[in-house]
Amino acid sequence: MTHMSNYALDRLGSYVFESAVQFLRCWTNLRLETRPPLQLADIYFDLYPEEQDPIWGNPCQDKRHLEIWSKNKSCERLPNFLIIGPQKTGTTALYSFLSIHPAISSNRDSPETFEELQFFSGKNYQKGIDWYMSFFPPPANDNETRYLFEKSANYFDGTLVPQRVHALLPSAHLITILIPPSKRAYSWYHHQRVHNDKAALEFSFHEVITANPRHAPRALRELHNRILQPGMYAHHLERWLALFPPQQLHLVDGERLKSDPILVLNQLQTELKIRPFFDYANHLKYVDQKGFYCQVDSLNKTKCLGQGKGRNYPPMESASLKFLREYYQPENTALEKLFKRLGYPIPSWLEEELGTESQNNPQIPAEEISNNVSSHWENPGSQ
Ligand code: A3P
Repeated sequence: MTHMSNYALDRLGSYVFESAVQFLRCWTNLRLETRPPLQLADIYFDLYPEEQDPIWGNPCQDKRHLEIWSKNKSCERLPNFLIIGPQKTGTTALYSFLSIHPAISSNRDSPETFEELQFFSGKNYQKGIDWYMSFFPPPANDNETRYLFEKSANYFDGTLVPQRVHALLPSAHLITILIPPSKRAYSWYHHQRVHNDKAALEFSFHEVITANPRHAPRALRELHNRILQPGMYAHHLERWLALFPPQQLHLVDGERLKSDPILVLNQLQTELKIRPFFDYANHLKYVDQKGFYCQVDSLNKTKCLGQGKGRNYPPMESASLKFLREYYQPENTALEKLFKRLGYPIPSWLEEELGTESQNNPQIPAEEISNNVSSHWENPGSQ
């Protein structure tokens, strides 16, 4: 019991302990000893190292926990949905566009990781759920429905993340954005260079992606894995789907988010059943200079994402593109199967990557395909 910081999970009342101690004293010759709590914790974790990491459960799903929870706390301070990534697919654009919606609020910025809380994916998890909740606005008194969300793009491929999210937010909706994995890798490489990643500055993109995972120098190997792993979309999506029903997983086509964010956002609010409906047509506008859609504020001024989003860099060399197409081929094939299984249409970029445009849609002209895609994307949960 001493080690259970998530106190609602302990099912033994202290009276059971007392009775057990009395029983042992009365009926056995065992000499009972105790130690200060910290020493006991060390002994316990030596015996059960796998329990060192807590898993925060949801207080509102546990009657006993709720009874002893402070009245100031409320599960209304936990997010209804998460943008889980992966990185460099347009997560910031989706985050800022969703934040314009009057009924949707995100977390306040973290001093270390800015708009991303990175709670489920790293050290912040040890800070506990009070820390996490403190970033979300307290419930309002106005009876207005409101939806809370957060975006941390590295949740997508984090090993422990699906299990942690599921324990705390089992009914949360998860939004993931997918673009061609080769494009994602290339964008991430340039992002690392701008952030002075030594290995990214030292090695070319082609050297990084083709590095031998066994024999390359350590820094290069690490970069190789970090650049390519998140693009294993099917593998990571299956990890999430092992815990969450498909109705809670929303796949956004990142290429569409760039070319037609109004359509994507209008569809996403329908999927998430967000009320009232907010027509993004009046709030987003394509800005030539930026080459992307930007927000239009109440004074009719446009506000684009910063320089770090929508960077200028040379096109990828054809040798790298060819290498990545082959590298991701098995994963992309698995992704295509996954889309079919879930009843989603295949995004056109995935068909291009696999060279299956005509096979999947034998007689349908290209325009019709994109019309079909949009109608399907409206209601994936109902498929
Ligand atoms: P590039 O900078 O490589 O073009 P993330 O926010 O997940 O880090 O993704 C960054 C990517 O979002 C950018 O990658 C850009 O292509 C894409 N993006 C999508 N919509 C955008 C928008 N409206 N403004 C800027 N970038 C956008």
